[in-house]
Amino acid sequence: MNIPNLPEPLASFNPEIGLILGSGLGFFADDRIEVAGRLSYGEIEGFPVSTVEGHAGQFVYGTIGGKRVICMQGRFHFYEGYSMAEITSPIRLMHALGVRTLFVTNAAGGINPDYVPGDFMLLRDHINALGTNPLIGWEGDEGVRFPDMSEVYDGQLRTGLRAWAEAQGVVLREGVYLAATGPSYETPAEVRAFATLGADAVGMSTVPEAIVARKLGMRVLALSCITNAAAGISKTPLTHEEVTETADRVRPQFADLLTAAIALA
Ligand code: HPA
Repeated sequence: MNIPNLPEPLASFNPEIGLILGSGLGFFADDRIEVAGRLSYGEIEGFPVSTVEGHAGQFVYGTIGGKRVICMQGRFHFYEGYSMAEITSPIRLMHALGVRTLFVTNAAGGINPDYVPGDFMLLRDHINALGTNPLIGWEGDEGVRFPDMSEVYDGQLRTGLRAWAEAQGVVLREGVYLAATGPSYETPAEVRAFATLGADAVGMSTVPEAIVARKLGMRVLALSCITNAAAGISKTPLTHEEVTETADRVRPQFADLLTAAIALA
């Protein structure tokens, strides 16, 4: 990816932390960031434009607890028809701007029977079931050809956030996230298969961004909001409304958790 020319003040903002806000979680930028500026994806040369309801599609940048952050309010999904290179172009852009720690959030369906909608899950690891990899055809000479993925999600940040959650009495799950392409939700048979594979939650994002961030040597932490029980575990049909309703309900808790995570960076 050629790094596009960005307008000031973003071009010289020098953010240290990147945030990706998933479905129904975009409010965080408005609620918790001392905003210095916004830049709509549509204004960035060569950038894809987000098409999903509930995704505003802009960078919001500013400070939180004195730290300079750049935040994606809305992300790109594979199911929207974008290439892996397009989905992960914001990660390369954030890295080029100076970001070295990336926080990724998503909405996910709970597979682990202990999980209830409204729970938060720290990603301990992931399973890439997208059938492709964002590093295929990589252009550029950053990083190693075959990046190690034995600890995608930073152990030190996870330990720190677990300690914070315990001290606050916040329930924080930790588990394995499986990325499926969507946009159809899973069948009950798929969810049973994913459980057998070791997945605790299933969603349609995060893994491409995390792989590219690791390739670029960034520290990564990812958090799922468990918005629903996955298909077959839930006896009722899944809807996007259920996902956004749950995310809305746990807004303050989610914002506190993410703020605590950023303070650890
Ligand atoms: N499956 C896939 N993606 C999701 C789900 C789900 O159940 N809930 C929120 N995102």
